[in-house]
Amino acid sequence: MPATVIIGAQWGDEGKGKIVDLLARDSDVVCRYNGGPGAGHTIVADGETYRLKHMPSGILWGKECVIGSGCVVDPAVFIDELDDLEQRGVSVDVVRLSANAHVVMPWHVAIDQASERRLGKLQIGTTRRGNGPAYADRAYRLGIRLQDLFDPKILREKIEVALAEKNIWLERVYGVEPFALEELAERYESYAQRLRPFLSDTSLLVDRALRDGKRVLLEGAHGTLLDIDHGTYPFVTSSSTIAGGACTGIGIGPTRIDDVTGIAKAYVTRVGEGPFPTEIEGADQARVRELGAEFGTVTGRERRCGWLDLVALRFAARINGFTSLALTKLDVLSSFSAVPVCVRYRLRDGSETAEFPAHQSDFHHAEPVYEVLTGWNEPIGDAAGFDELPEPARCYVEFVEDELGVAVSLVGTGAERERVLARAA
Ligand code: GDP
Ligand code: IMO
Ligand code: MG
Repeated sequence: MPATVIIGAQWGDEGKGKIVDLLARDSDVVCRYNGGPGAGHTIVADGETYRLKHMPSGILWGKECVIGSGCVVDPAVFIDELDDLEQRGVSVDVVRLSANAHVVMPWHVAIDQASERRLGKLQIGTTRRGNGPAYADRAYRLGIRLQDLFDPKILREKIEVALAEKNIWLERVYGVEPFALEELAERYESYAQRLRPFLSDTSLLVDRALRDGKRVLLEGAHGTLLDIDHGTYPFVTSSSTIAGGACTGIGIGPTRIDDVTGIAKAYVTRVGEGPFPTEIEGADQARVRELGAEFGTVTGRERRCGWLDLVALRFAARINGFTSLALTKLDVLSSFSAVPVCVRYRLRDGSETAEFPAHQSDFHHAEPVYEVLTGWNEPIGDAAGFDELPEPARCYVEFVEDELGVAVSLVGTGAERERVLARAA
């Protein structure tokens, strides 16, 4: 039975939360396979806005929700999220946490913040939530996993070993306060008590669900261009955001995955630093930001806004193997009489390419070549079906499909849960 992967096709914030929430209604299990407390997925349901950081976006439908071993978890943030959901009447009994997921420790947050400060102009513009340092320690084999929190002796030992290095860095390299072993050991033992009921062998759970014919959604955090291997390095996050990451981040084989749905905005946004060929010049950037409410879910930062980049989207389709695409926030473009779409890049030698440059410097210097499509200049939020959209809006969607060779199955026309148009296959 089907396992479907849902992935951000750009630089994050494509509207994954809303689309996963929609698809979760007809699913049995919803899993997050990567990322940590820097992710922020928004769902607007029955007039209420939910901003999820760790939690899979299936939580509002009461579906079994898995946080896989490919995630890093900040227990303080996770517990706050549990409390907030419970207070709002959402049951969290359905949450299953992989014991192999790594813990974001306070020194990871302190190092993320201090290293960005130190980099100054060269900073990555991280969410400063400790993601990068936590994934780095995982690879360095100095990480603490959720399972380590449940044996006080092991926990104390692991914190001690880590602090022996981290405190030197914090004090001598970054000039910030070190951490005290006793205080941390006690605090994390108390977190363990709260987390214990959620721990589970999540790889086995997902395998059994698939064998039982259940429908499983695998939800990515961040976006394809933020992928550690294939993204716009070094301006990336530290996990595997792409379809392949769903297998490692949950612990299932690639043969279990049937569908890969990419989520792309009808334009592009980016938070943080790094090259962005289609970034809008002039007043239209602020206009798109205001119309799309493009401010970070976690950090509140202004998102940089650009026109749709089909070169980058073609790359995302290749890297992920999209079987369909959801195009969100089409309504945001409603008040433009003409809408540029980037179809090729012009490189430094004057040549033009429709393929994403393999070399960082080529990408850095790439100039967008636009095709200007006719706008529709009227609100589309109330359209009840794709056929009710104004003709230029339909042409916009069909243009994207033709250029990518991928069908657009869903079109977003507003933030609310019901504002999405499904298209027949
Ligand atoms: P995610 O990280 O990919 O889940 O996306 P975010 O939640 O960080 O950002 C997407 C924002 O767009 C949120 O504020 C959503 O409520 C909003 N949104 C999602 N789909 C649509 C849409 O089709 N139209 C409009 N206007 N807003 C949308
Ligand atoms: P969702 O899941 C947008 C960006 C940061 C920064 C870079 C590295 O909501 O789509 P990190 O803190 O992960 O080390 O930051 O990646 N970034 C995101 N941008 N949406 C996200 O998540 C992001 N997660 C990370 O702004 O440029
Ligand atoms: Mg987001």
